[in-house]
Amino acid sequence: MSEAIDVRKGLVGVYADESSVSKVMPETNSLTYRGYAVQDLCEQSNFEEVAWLLWNGELPNAAQLAAFQKEERANRALSPALLRVLRDFPKDAHPMDAIRTAISFMGMEDPETADISDAAQRRKSLRIFAKAPAAVAAAHRLSKGMEPIAPDAALPFCENFFHMVFGRVPAKEVIKAFDVSMILYAEHTFNASTFAARTIASTMADVHAAVVGGIAALKGPLHGGANEAVMHMLKEIPSPDVAEAWLRERFDHKALVMGFGHRVYKSGDSRVPTMKKYAEVMADVVGDKRWMNTSAVLARVMLEEKRIHPNLDFPAGPAYYLMGFDIPMFTPIFVCSRITGWTAHVLEQLADNRLIRPLSLYTGEEQRAVPAMSAR
Ligand code: COA
Repeated sequence: MSEAIDVRKGLVGVYADESSVSKVMPETNSLTYRGYAVQDLCEQSNFEEVAWLLWNGELPNAAQLAAFQKEERANRALSPALLRVLRDFPKDAHPMDAIRTAISFMGMEDPETADISDAAQRRKSLRIFAKAPAAVAAAHRLSKGMEPIAPDAALPFCENFFHMVFGRVPAKEVIKAFDVSMILYAEHTFNASTFAARTIASTMADVHAAVVGGIAALKGPLHGGANEAVMHMLKEIPSPDVAEAWLRERFDHKALVMGFGHRVYKSGDSRVPTMKKYAEVMADVVGDKRWMNTSAVLARVMLEEKRIHPNLDFPAGPAYYLMGFDIPMFTPIFVCSRITGWTAHVLEQLADNRLIRPLSLYTGEEQRAVPAMSAR
């Protein structure tokens, strides 16, 4: 009887719903957001425009963008209560745990938490989007014994993030590389964290709850945590000339190579060429080619030996490192971007909601009597 039931472990190949937010086309290694190729968005728009696009289905015109930027800038500041909570976090807490907890706290403070009407969810999504970078930056600085830096409403989204983390805004090439990474990380159909966020939203829980669930799912090294794992791996390899030997030893142990492979793309991740281009820009800006040279050897040998291509985390890891970010900040940066995709999906889920509740094929004991304690 059980043979007739098609159990798809990992939900491989399962269409769980319809969506108009983005489309992955593995056969051509391409990805579109609301119909626009992600590479074109990287070259012809910026992350703020893409956030608007994901939420509204169209790119903003100049007036819409200006109004959105004004709103975002007005909502960046963290409350004194949240700043106090951040100060009490353990100094060695992982920044992913810090941002997860900070957004959970924001949910308790938000005046509209319980209102899950479309209009209120949009307003709350914008507030989460505006405040998350400030929370990531403040938690980072506090963990290093430094005071948080208040957001600067005169600065655009990406520039303001660098300002809050480092106290300065870097060269425009660095901002562009960061902006591109934020666009590329923003959305990717029904990945694990987005599906987690949609599942939570489907219970009619609020958007802060859905984002907190998304962050929890993103943390793992098989998902967003891979960008940190990639950089740890690259640092373990003493130099590009020993990278091939290092990798072959890993093959001998059948170990995973971080930043490679993808559930949907089997012949290349659409986002990699663009991110690689900007990681190389970063290597030029900093004058340090070690990470990109080591990466090139790993990518060549993985393809030759395993037919496995790199995913977005592979070039994003060294790009963030070259921008000067501490490794544990990489996945929280991914959070600041993916908040847009998660919340766009939450809005879509609630617009035509049905509780997400799959089945499991039971393989445990047949029903049996509870034995008396003396008989166990
Ligand atoms: N390193 C080594 N082998 C890998 C690999 C990797 N990064 N990714 C996949 N493979 C191997 C698998 O072990 C499997 O081999 P097998 O058939 O001998 O068992 C084969 O390739 C097929 O992979 P599969 O397990 O079907 O892929 P999946 O769709 O279940 O998993 C990932 C996809 C992303 C979880 C997986 O590729 C992975 O763990 N990658 C490393 C982590 C990472 O970079 N995550 C970020 C994703 S964007």
